[in-house]
Amino acid sequence: MKFFLTGSFIAIIILIVLFSYRQNIFSTTALPYDDEQQGLDDQITIHFSHVVAENTPKGAAAEKFKELVEEKSNGKVVVQIYPNGMLYNDENELDALRENKVQMIAPTISKMTGTLPNWQVLDLPFIIENNEQLKLVLNGQISKSLLQELEGINVKGLTFWNNGFKQIASTSPIIDIEQFKGKRIRMMASDILHEQYKLLDAKPIATSFGVVYSDLQQEVVDAQENTISNIYSKQFHTMENQITLSNHGILAYAVMMNKDFWGSLDADIQKIITDSLAEMQDWQFEQAEEFNKEDLLYLKANSDVQIYELDVETKNEWKEKLQPIYSHYENHINEHYLDDLLDEINNRIE
Ligand code: LMR
Repeated sequence: MKFFLTGSFIAIIILIVLFSYRQNIFSTTALPYDDEQQGLDDQITIHFSHVVAENTPKGAAAEKFKELVEEKSNGKVVVQIYPNGMLYNDENELDALRENKVQMIAPTISKMTGTLPNWQVLDLPFIIENNEQLKLVLNGQISKSLLQELEGINVKGLTFWNNGFKQIASTSPIIDIEQFKGKRIRMMASDILHEQYKLLDAKPIATSFGVVYSDLQQEVVDAQENTISNIYSKQFHTMENQITLSNHGILAYAVMMNKDFWGSLDADIQKIITDSLAEMQDWQFEQAEEFNKEDLLYLKANSDVQIYELDVETKNEWKEKLQPIYSHYENHINEHYLDDLLDEINNRIE
């Protein structure tokens, strides 16, 4: 027994010495520094937070941006995406960006209007009426001026992404103008959207995208305006199964970075980022149309969902009721944006 214990003890000591030798524990020389470790030191990480699902125009665009930037930089730049508001939500993502807690976000234009009121021009209803005009405007001069306004709040504006036109989803039909009366309508926080629903005699309720589903479950709202891809990807239609294809407003995203972070990047990295965004721009617009078209087909195939089209006469009634909104905008904000927007649409589209 004594021999057995002594033998085991010696065997354990030999094993420990051998293991330590293999792990270089007794070595006095520094560990070799390989290229991969050096690469990690140089790596730049862009944390990109957004609030929608991955299978949406913005979710897919974020993934495409990641793919292009990582490929063009040979992995030197890594883009970490946080979808579905898992990191920040509508209320705090802009602050998180400005404090460099994340480096990139892409909020809906409406959500910027509290900070930069001129942005409301893109929230005005029935100004942009088709995809061609939408693409022209989001790539045009007004959009560039709006992005430029971000400089004043420590943000670098990069480009606009698209998610098409907003529709009305509700628990009971909203087709005729009178059917808005008294309806509690969830909207994004925006003075113009608030004004819009006041003019329609509805009760506007501004909430964060992340709580829309639970608000519907708890029956604290009756309707909302959103794109088909947002309605379908978040399954809002399971509760708001009456959908009116009104195309009354647009939903677009301002893609932005923390300005100091942007300034800290070498010119070649900045170029990789702007080149990637430029390369994917047409693709992004096509994707937005595609997602909304396909998701509409799914909704049409669902027998629990009713889809309504607005006929010309009814649409004109909506437009007439909303007429005062344009002077409301001009009285409160820099009116030249609206004139420029109309010029941009009318002069360049036959
Ligand atoms: C919403 O709040 O309804 C949208 O802005 C969500 C989004 O980012 O598309």
